[in-house]
Amino acid sequence: MSAVAFAEKKLAQNGFLDLEVDPTLDLFEEIEKLKREKNAIILAHYYQESEIQDIADYIGDSLGLSQRAAETDADIIVFAGVHFMAETAKMLSPSKKVLLPDLKAGCSLADSCPPHIFRKFKEKYPEHVVVSYINCTAELKTLTDICCTSTNAVHVINSIPKDKEIIFAPDINLGRYLVKKTGRDMVLWNGSCMVHEIFSHEKITKLMVRYPEAKFIAHPECETHILDKADYIGSTSGLLRYTKENEATAFIVATEAGIIHQMQKASPHKTFIPAPPNNTCACNECPHMKRNTLEKLYLCMKHELPEIILPEWVIEQGVPSIDRMLEVSAKAGL
Ligand code: 13P
Ligand code: SF4
Repeated sequence: MSAVAFAEKKLAQNGFLDLEVDPTLDLFEEIEKLKREKNAIILAHYYQESEIQDIADYIGDSLGLSQRAAETDADIIVFAGVHFMAETAKMLSPSKKVLLPDLKAGCSLADSCPPHIFRKFKEKYPEHVVVSYINCTAELKTLTDICCTSTNAVHVINSIPKDKEIIFAPDINLGRYLVKKTGRDMVLWNGSCMVHEIFSHEKITKLMVRYPEAKFIAHPECETHILDKADYIGSTSGLLRYTKENEATAFIVATEAGIIHQMQKASPHKTFIPAPPNNTCACNECPHMKRNTLEKLYLCMKHELPEIILPEWVIEQGVPSIDRMLEVSAKAGL
């Protein structure tokens, strides 16, 4: 291997993949070629850049992405999403190579629940069942009885016998929403998503007055005072479905703005207004999701780096919590 190739590889595995890409390259064509040559599949979350969504083999929410990762026969899974999602794919398909274009694509929600602190917290509730939102580290999943996503969370909670008490981690906003929705009183970990906590109640109210026909739709990671205003609450795939099926022609959307690409594609005649944040920056974009670019995607497929590597014990002890979630989802037809 040449010194340059070695340096590129090292940089890539370290997550500093900011190498120059020849600007004359047609990256769509190059990525398609690499997909065929390497039998690779690109799985992308709805919050990715539009051009990444457009080249992906599958675009979906966290549940759909894990289902695809579990069933694919590709040799390489290229995960256009964030770290915990790529880890989940690795846990479900440990024999496959799982790549993440930028290893630094993390998640504020996953970071808000460090496993060593959660372990101590859990010791106070030895009889409780631990339900963790999939937006958590692989190590947290080893301390979890069953995972959930925003699509299947209600089904997961309802699958737990009524006489069992529950700890819900790490998202306090989703947790509060689930307490209301299921009537189960749960011990909640105090974590949150930096994107979904930024929406301005006042600015949304103003928009609702300005566009009285518009439906206000929100992701359950939003705070309760925002959710209380919503006409519909759902996961990214739920929100997308609602905008397709509902007769309204305008929607105020309180979730990461990347989803609007698919909403607009599916309903070109409808208007989508991103719910405004509290300040003037573009904070309704997830800085972690947006670390992935088409250039990094291309380089990562070319060099097959950075790769997700997990200790065997993490896979062994973490995967049952995901498998249980997938079982509940399959039973519910999700
Ligand atoms: P879903 O796509 O499963 O609704 O999750 C949203 C999210 O925050 C992913 O990071
Ligand atoms: Fe994490 Fe929030 Fe970004 Fe999703 S949108 S990856 S929950 S920080």
